[in-house]
Amino acid sequence: MQTRFIGKPMPRKEGREKVTGRARYIDDITMPGMLFGATVRSPVPRGRIKEIRFDPQIPWDEFTIVTAQDVPGSNYVALIVNDQPYLADRLVNHAEEPVLLLAHTDKYLLEEARRAVRLEIEPLPPVFTLDESDEKKEIIWGEDNVFKSFLVEKGNVDDVWAGADFIVEGEYRTGAQEQLYIETNGVIAVANPEEGVTVWGSMQCPYYVHKALIKLFNLPEDKIRVVQTETGGGFGGKEEYPSMIAGHAALLAWKSGKPVKIIYDRAEDMAATTKRHPSRTRHRTAVTRDGRLLGMEIDFVVDGGAYATLSAVVLSRGTIHAAGPYNCPNVRIRSRAVATNVPPHGAFRGFGAPQSIFALERHMNKVARAVGLSPEEFRRRNFIREGETTATSQVIREAVDMQRLVERAFELSDYRDKQERFARENESARVKRGVGFASFMHGAGFTGSGEKYLQSIVGAEATPEGRVRILAANTEIGQGTNTIFAQIAAEALGLDFEQIEVAQPDTANVPNSGPTVASRTTMIVGKLVESAALSLRQTLQNSKLLADSYSPEDFSRACRDYLAKYGQLKSFSQYKQPAEIDWDDEKYRGDAYGAFAWAVYVAEVSVDTLTFEARVEDFVAVQEVGRVINPTMAAGQIEGGVAQGIGYTLFENVVWRGGRMINNQMTNYIIPTTADIPPIRVHFEEMPYEHGPGGAKGIGELPMDGAAPAILNAIENATGLELNQIPLMPEQLMEAFRGEHA
Ligand code: MOS
Repeated sequence: MQTRFIGKPMPRKEGREKVTGRARYIDDITMPGMLFGATVRSPVPRGRIKEIRFDPQIPWDEFTIVTAQDVPGSNYVALIVNDQPYLADRLVNHAEEPVLLLAHTDKYLLEEARRAVRLEIEPLPPVFTLDESDEKKEIIWGEDNVFKSFLVEKGNVDDVWAGADFIVEGEYRTGAQEQLYIETNGVIAVANPEEGVTVWGSMQCPYYVHKALIKLFNLPEDKIRVVQTETGGGFGGKEEYPSMIAGHAALLAWKSGKPVKIIYDRAEDMAATTKRHPSRTRHRTAVTRDGRLLGMEIDFVVDGGAYATLSAVVLSRGTIHAAGPYNCPNVRIRSRAVATNVPPHGAFRGFGAPQSIFALERHMNKVARAVGLSPEEFRRRNFIREGETTATSQVIREAVDMQRLVERAFELSDYRDKQERFARENESARVKRGVGFASFMHGAGFTGSGEKYLQSIVGAEATPEGRVRILAANTEIGQGTNTIFAQIAAEALGLDFEQIEVAQPDTANVPNSGPTVASRTTMIVGKLVESAALSLRQTLQNSKLLADSYSPEDFSRACRDYLAKYGQLKSFSQYKQPAEIDWDDEKYRGDAYGAFAWAVYVAEVSVDTLTFEARVEDFVAVQEVGRVINPTMAAGQIEGGVAQGIGYTLFENVVWRGGRMINNQMTNYIIPTTADIPPIRVHFEEMPYEHGPGGAKGIGELPMDGAAPAILNAIENATGLELNQIPLMPEQLMEAFRGEHA
């Protein structure tokens, strides 16, 4: 298909603003009479608040002070379960839980005051690990510590064990991970009974914040306005948390009558906001002598932290991806999100899938070894194909060919030659080398009927200059929303790239096109951009101001003529689920996602047997993602996700003590730098997806899934060590080597 913009490396829409420093992030903005806000947090993980004492050294009468008693509406963050208070009232359930808010014009005095509030809290016994919570050692949430559980069943797994030639079991664990966006969380709020509440801030989902503030203030929806400002990264970390900080700033603004700004510093952001859910996965697999999967029983548990937040949906995605791109007739997956007394874990790129896929792809290597096959031959015999079904009994209707992806990845990485050469050289070498891979898929868009319930709406309007402006609540968070939307609209309308504008997400001005999450922005919302743009053109053509065939200039003139005649021109498009998608919420069965992206990632590693350093030396990422809209940005997404995955595997270690993150600084929470990242060679296979704009599927989260298992599979290839827990630090490698060679 001949295209002008789809598949072209168009420059980033807001790139000039960003590189010249003209882009205004929330901390660049100030307002007359503005106060700064700060949060007083619990130092203990669980307990009863007895008393709040104020050190008399501080001139408290100059401060605005807000406690749970000042909340005008409901004191909970409206999301899925209304269990998380904006400000703790009597009980605290995790360290760093907000108890009291302060505001003052002088941010240095404010910081002194924050330290001068003493919380007297009578401790209650805390639960810190998912194992303790799962064993119900202490009940800290609901009746059983369980936020949510799922059961996915296909065939009858109970019948397979007796006839299995091999039964292979394994346990796999993953740790927490900090999103570490460059810009920390921050907002400014203006709030008073006459005008209502307006919040500007760094966020992914303006309408999530909108919904939460309606409940917090008990105001009608038109009295709440949420505006996303330029956002320096999110990765899921600004999916649900901005509702909390926005509420805090708004409460202080409401009480003081002044604009209030809250910006977290890095230490507060790392200690108090959400991280990736730690997990434990247990596999029991039945397989035939010739290496065919007969049955898979999977138990998947994630640590949700102290409140429910998004754990139910993170668990859902992790559960559905737990059996991967394999054809297995009998599957049972049981999963639970359990409570612990740590700050709530939340959305992070991949959303549960990196956890369960890590387990699966390590386990598949173990099963292959038990059967006596290579990891690639075992997978080849079991890859899912068109017409076969996933664990949720979803029939694959795409012409997926995982084996072709394996071949392509092996070719690009020189996998077979390296494997042979390393095996030969490792014998006498101090630094052992190895190669490993993971094969996986990632569903795009909300799970199951999620998109149907969301009913997203996108608008397109004609501007007085004769351009087309896209109206959507989806945010540019560095991943390319503005550019992709402009490419899609320009392509659909046959206009120039510069003729498309993308409106700033502002709930007073854009419809609710749903949250910027779940790899849905391009595939789901982009399709609505395309149809809203086409419907705007239809209106122009119906009005006879635009002929069937036109130039970009004709289109501009038609827009201006239309506005002169009728005042305004806006068209909207609402999501309608493709008819063939069929999902059963009760049985958790059916079409979990409209489409999957499919991938094979290969890692080459070196392991120094003296220093116990493991390095990724080379990386190849091959994926089938439908049509690629912008090759530069798509490759950037994959490279960034792989880098984040390398961090997840070998560098990023959240150290907990007493339910608090104690390495909450960039000096001791180590992420990989360019010096630690190998060349990442990205290859796309493109099979257009009929319901995606220009044929595109979602890719944002996919690259987070494959690095960890590919790297540990490569370390196993290099050393013979079976390591099934990440992050894998040199200390663990040292212990593993010593255990092996004791
Ligand atoms: Mo997300 S992890 O912002 O779906």
